[in-house]
Amino acid sequence: MQAYAKLNLGLRILGRRADGYHELRTVFQTVSLADDVTLAMGAGRGVRCETSARGAASWLAVPEDGTNLAVRAAELAREEFRLRGQVRLRLAKRIPVGAGLGGGSSDAAAVLRLLAARARPAPPADLVWRLAAELGSDVAPFLIGGTVLGLGRGDECYPLPPWPSQYAVIALPSRPVATAEAFRLWDERHPEAAAPPGLTEAARSVKINSFRGSLMRALPASRQARDRGRPERPIVRAGIENDFEEVVFSLSPDFAMIRRALRRAGAEAVALTGSGAAQYGLFSRRETAAAARARLAEQGPTWVVRFVARQRREPKLWGVVQW
Ligand code: C5P
Repeated sequence: MQAYAKLNLGLRILGRRADGYHELRTVFQTVSLADDVTLAMGAGRGVRCETSARGAASWLAVPEDGTNLAVRAAELAREEFRLRGQVRLRLAKRIPVGAGLGGGSSDAAAVLRLLAARARPAPPADLVWRLAAELGSDVAPFLIGGTVLGLGRGDECYPLPPWPSQYAVIALPSRPVATAEAFRLWDERHPEAAAPPGLTEAARSVKINSFRGSLMRALPASRQARDRGRPERPIVRAGIENDFEEVVFSLSPDFAMIRRALRRAGAEAVALTGSGAAQYGLFSRRETAAAARARLAEQGPTWVVRFVARQRREPKLWGVVQW
């Protein structure tokens, strides 16, 4: 199974919550950079994991024990779905670690989906969602895929209509960023920031709709405009700002340099994904994205990806509303 990476199309940190996590508003978008997750059941017990990395670069190095989120997902799911035998997991890594691209979370979600499909009887949807939330704040959006609104810790997810097709150039600086470190830095800068109290159901649905509306208005090239043969509109105000930028950029001059390089290469909007370290630039056309990538290549690892929409054949298991 392809475990796609994600980009955050905007990320707002509203404040610290009583449980120590931070209240977020974000939109996740799956993109075509992907790890390959394969899984088989064999004789024995527990979970065995082998990883291989294309290019064997250090930013792909992941542990093969229980500190790997996919292994942890397999251990949890094996027990909770009452599967017999040994789970044999193979991860072919392409998504860099510590980049904000959600590689570990996506692998974990793929493992949950693969094992849920094997379990008899099929596990109830709420169990799968609970395991996803237990594994990490970023796992749940990958159970849905495509364009997903994330609230709460990021794990409270709502599928959005597909974002019009885009290309992105992803660029990595020389150092990874650990999410917990980025939140700690944000806390230092915002010592008084307590999260607002939880929204009522009615207020929540209004917020979701208005947030979605503002994002759709900020689209670089609306599908309708393209369908009518009009020239594509550049983004005036991106709407994809990320509140981690103010803290993460202070870690290294690399961040500002990559941002400038993406802008100079013609990106219609540039942003940090998650808590970094990767940044991306959006492009309407593949050729422009490829040319931009060529200009950035000597700065460090870069990829051209396209947005990947939610798969129509997602199982009903997840109980989410489909658009
Ligand atoms: O949930 P996850 O394990 O992915 O989060 C990693 C770390 O990031 C947490 O330990 C927590 O410190 C921080 N975090 C947070 N608020 C969030 C998500 C993560 O403070 N919404």
